[in-house]
Amino acid sequence: MTDSTETDIKACVFDAYGTLFDVHSAVGKHQHRFGDVASSVSALWRTKQLEYTWLRSLMGDYADFWQVTGEALEYALDAHEINDSTLQDDLMQAYLKLTAYSEVPGVLQALQAAGYKTAILSNGEPKMLGAAVEGSGLNNLLDECLSVDTLRIFKPDPSVYRLATDAFGIEPQQVLFQSSNAWDAAGAAHFGFRVLWVNRFGQRPERLPAKPQYEAQDLNHLLTVLGIGG
Ligand code: LAC
Repeated sequence: MTDSTETDIKACVFDAYGTLFDVHSAVGKHQHRFGDVASSVSALWRTKQLEYTWLRSLMGDYADFWQVTGEALEYALDAHEINDSTLQDDLMQAYLKLTAYSEVPGVLQALQAAGYKTAILSNGEPKMLGAAVEGSGLNNLLDECLSVDTLRIFKPDPSVYRLATDAFGIEPQQVLFQSSNAWDAAGAAHFGFRVLWVNRFGQRPERLPAKPQYEAQDLNHLLTVLGIGG
């Protein structure tokens, strides 16, 4: 229990894409159709998807994450001079069935057993999130699936993080938020959440005005932080 410093936490809230679900599993399913550019396409798809969320938020021109994801894919394929509408459709369908990281169900079960509320808080459009949750069998392990779509602005706008405190009627410091996206971890910490940065990809820390309290390679560390680890 030495790491059990988080005694006030009431809810564990998770970013979806990259944190619970492997965004690169969509291209991964169709890897054989790309030759040696598969990982380059997947990385650019993700980068553009996130850039478009930030840019659309700044422009005040919201489109839901499904549209943004499609437009980012179009860009990534074009940048690699791939013109294949069937592949494009297949990748979008694969995005609805992303693979959950292997530790996710066990961690959610342990949280539930210990009495914590659990939620997704994501840029994702509700139907996409629902499909990913259902496809990974996580439905019964999550109390809430909160989407920016109700606000029509993307992370890291503070109003997005407020969705979680409003949903559970709790204070920001009673939320432990998990994200593999360092900028999202910073946004959440800036709002006042306690934050575990799930640094799955060995990235360098962001130079942004708020820092996550914890860093780990996967979500198992969350149980240690809460003192419910094995
Ligand atoms: C999400 C993106 C940021 O799920 O991964 O909100």
